[in-house]
Amino acid sequence: MEHQQPEPWIWWKHGVIYHIYPRSFMDSNGDGVGDIQGIISKLNYLSDLGVDGIWLSPVFLSPMVDFGYDVSDYREIDPVYGTMDDFKMLIDKAHGLGIRVISDMILNHTSDQHPWFLESMASKENPKRNWYIWKDGNKSGPPNNWKTTVGGSAWELDETTGQYYCHSFFKEQPDLNWRNPALSEAFFTEVKFWLDIGVDGFRLDVINFIVKDKKFRNNPYFFGIPVFQRHIFTRNRPKSHKIVRELRKLVDQYDNRVIVGEIYTLPPGNSKIAASYLSNGSGMHMAFDFSLIFRHWSARKYYECINDGYRYIPEKGWPCNVLSNHDLFRSIDRFPWRHNKVEKAKVAAALLLTLKGTPFIYYGEEIGMRNAKIKYRDIQDPLGKRFWPFFSGRDKARTPMQWNSGKNTGFTAGNPWLPVNADALKRNVENQEKDKNSILNFYRMLIKIHKSHIALQQGRWVPLIAGQHGILAFARIHNEERIVVVLNFTGRKKRIFLAEHNFGCVLFSTHRKYEEIFYFQNLWIFPFEVSVYKA
Ligand code: NOJ
Repeated sequence: MEHQQPEPWIWWKHGVIYHIYPRSFMDSNGDGVGDIQGIISKLNYLSDLGVDGIWLSPVFLSPMVDFGYDVSDYREIDPVYGTMDDFKMLIDKAHGLGIRVISDMILNHTSDQHPWFLESMASKENPKRNWYIWKDGNKSGPPNNWKTTVGGSAWELDETTGQYYCHSFFKEQPDLNWRNPALSEAFFTEVKFWLDIGVDGFRLDVINFIVKDKKFRNNPYFFGIPVFQRHIFTRNRPKSHKIVRELRKLVDQYDNRVIVGEIYTLPPGNSKIAASYLSNGSGMHMAFDFSLIFRHWSARKYYECINDGYRYIPEKGWPCNVLSNHDLFRSIDRFPWRHNKVEKAKVAAALLLTLKGTPFIYYGEEIGMRNAKIKYRDIQDPLGKRFWPFFSGRDKARTPMQWNSGKNTGFTAGNPWLPVNADALKRNVENQEKDKNSILNFYRMLIKIHKSHIALQQGRWVPLIAGQHGILAFARIHNEERIVVVLNFTGRKKRIFLAEHNFGCVLFSTHRKYEEIFYFQNLWIFPFEVSVYKA
């Protein structure tokens, strides 16, 4: 095997990134909503955890119909989160600790209160009319059959001008018209504004939605059933790749910046489509495909999904891995059965932190935060309000970060915007810091190992046991450094034979002692064991 020159360390590629939902992380001023100063006060916690970057869900000025994913000014910080000075302070202090800051960036839509949309609404002749997608209706109503992701038609009638505008989400989130060069130029200026301020990159919200069919053709249906629309003409249009490549060119004018995009597909978890946005090194640096999130708890299924995903990553692309986010359920509660949840969460975390690709941790995942039970009167998420009682919305994975056993779990001195989880008295950072077997210390240890082993950061991924009998084992190899990871997805003891490697020295294990040596030829694996060896 040819000797690989190690790449210089690239923070977004070789580091670990932590996703913060700012409303819920830490409140500094007692208004019950998390804010930027709150995040600053917890930077030491993040530094001790060992993360190299944070991604903040949006903190721009917003009417908060969709809690910041409806932006009314891309150059302002919403007062609920603080000021521009707070944001700059966050960047400075985070950088001082070696932590980069990724901002969300929402290209698909703005708020209906954004001045661009107010102008666009004003008249058909307004110069900004075509910055959004306007269309005459047909005889029976909206221009075509396009549906939103939140239920109902994607078209809203504007009584004044008699035309419809397109919105992929709520009607308060009109879609921008990326076929209009004037809009793309204006938007890129907003992006540049943040690059100049010093953000280290962007997470691109539903970036595969941004271009719609030029001919406004009707979408077909899955199985001919109108509720299941196949978004052929509303997502992944070829031009969306082109726009991402233009954005990449802009970002590349600055040092060490990153773009990572959310690629939401139906059914979810389409690695092939996600990887297409990497454009072999000239598109996004990474794409969330969510494939692991939608997998059943089975070593075999996880293996297939991981292996499949890697096949699509182009030579100059890079994978990223994620277990949960602010739109989905808490990962620990997706694992089946009520027992052994923490053990399963540790197996999943070990996978996240040893696979090839950048790990993204969703706040609270590192202490095993659970889905909250949200009562109707407490629902904040517009999706929950709309679909109750069939779907209670996304609030259950957005409850306050559980810091300690004090009032409101240390999150706020006021009334939290969402109730604190019932288990916060027990399950919190302060308690877990004291417990050497806690999931928090498990994350810390594995992040440390990730940081100190080039094979885990840059190495090839070589599957050794492809999920048979509930075991997933693989090696990460970079020149002489070989790390072997063995994970038991089951609650039963198993025996393994690894022909490729003779023995390994324990770097980290849930069941074995540090630096003990084991032969891989006939090794008993304990229930839900996680072991990482140097081989
Ligand atoms: C995806 C975001 O993650 C979600 O929270 C938001 O509601 C939609 N995009 C619309 O921006």
